[in-house]
Amino acid sequence: MSWLQLTGKTTVITGAGGGIGQALARAFAVEGARVVLLDRDIERSGPLAAELGGIALCCDLADGDSVAAAAAAVEAEGGADVLVNAAAILRPGALESVATADWAAMLAVNLTGYLAAAQAFGRGMLARGRGSLVHIASIAGSQPQPASGAYSASKAATLMMSRQLAAEWGPRGVRSNCVSPGLVMTPMSAAFYADPDVKARREAMVPLHRIATPQDMADVALFLASDRAGYVTGQDIVVDGGLSQTLMGLVPRPGYA
Ligand SMILES: NC(=O)c1ccc[n+]([C@@H]2O[C@H](COP(=O)([O-])OP(=O)(O)OC[C@H]3O[C@@H](n4cnc5c(N)ncnc54)[C@H](O)[C@@H]3O)[C@@H](O)[C@H]2O)c1
Repeated sequence: MSWLQLTGKTTVITGAGGGIGQALARAFAVEGARVVLLDRDIERSGPLAAELGGIALCCDLADGDSVAAAAAAVEAEGGADVLVNAAAILRPGALESVATADWAAMLAVNLTGYLAAAQAFGRGMLARGRGSLVHIASIAGSQPQPASGAYSASKAATLMMSRQLAAEWGPRGVRSNCVSPGLVMTPMSAAFYADPDVKARREAMVPLHRIATPQDMADVALFLASDRAGYVTGQDIVVDGGLSQTLMGLVPRPGYA
């Protein structure tokens, strides 16, 4: 028996075709979990599901019917033990001029989509009296990120939604936690690393002096999903190499070099 004891646990991952989603799928599969990969773009998740012996379902998190259909398919096979929400979109834009449609589209996936998945897959968990939810949030949820439209607001709301779920569902055996990544190299962020100079400047800002890998996020999600975190709920683990601890170091302080 492995330390995490995830063998045979059915683990549903949303956004499973993405950078962090793929790492999550591999990490849970390595631990022996049965992985169910949800993405609206099945070309990104299908080949990986086949490689891992899992299932890929085409699912648009912003469409309640689509999420319900995916949940029904999983429930028919015994239901989910773990849900990891990792789908998201990022549409940059200053709040001064952000289009309402862009604002709504981001909330529809990053926040309402996470709730839709929690409800659809959580229903069976609540009925069985056990389950674990892990939501991939962001340090942008607690540190305002300028020119990112609804992104920071959607992540802040996800952090609170997870805490609400923890309070509401804890008495019925279902835990809810977040992982908040800092800077991670994925398709979503690829444009930020195209220029080696920008990449080096980003690395220099992180106390651990490197950009995170998707595996760094998966490792923490594995722990939170597992029974090893069985007394942990309503928490957010920040996985940012220390980036969010650097604010006071930016303040000029003569005499304290
Ligand atoms: N990359 C980073 O630096 C970073 C930093 C902080 C937080 N995050 C968060 O990590 C999570 C994963 O991000 P990533 O970097 O792997 O992004 P990514 O763009 O590589 O992957 C996102 C995946 O979500 C899918 N998706 C988008 N909209 C969907 C929808 N409506 N329905 C179903 N699937 C949908 C996409 O097809 C894609 O496969 C997100 O929640 C993101 O906000 C990423």
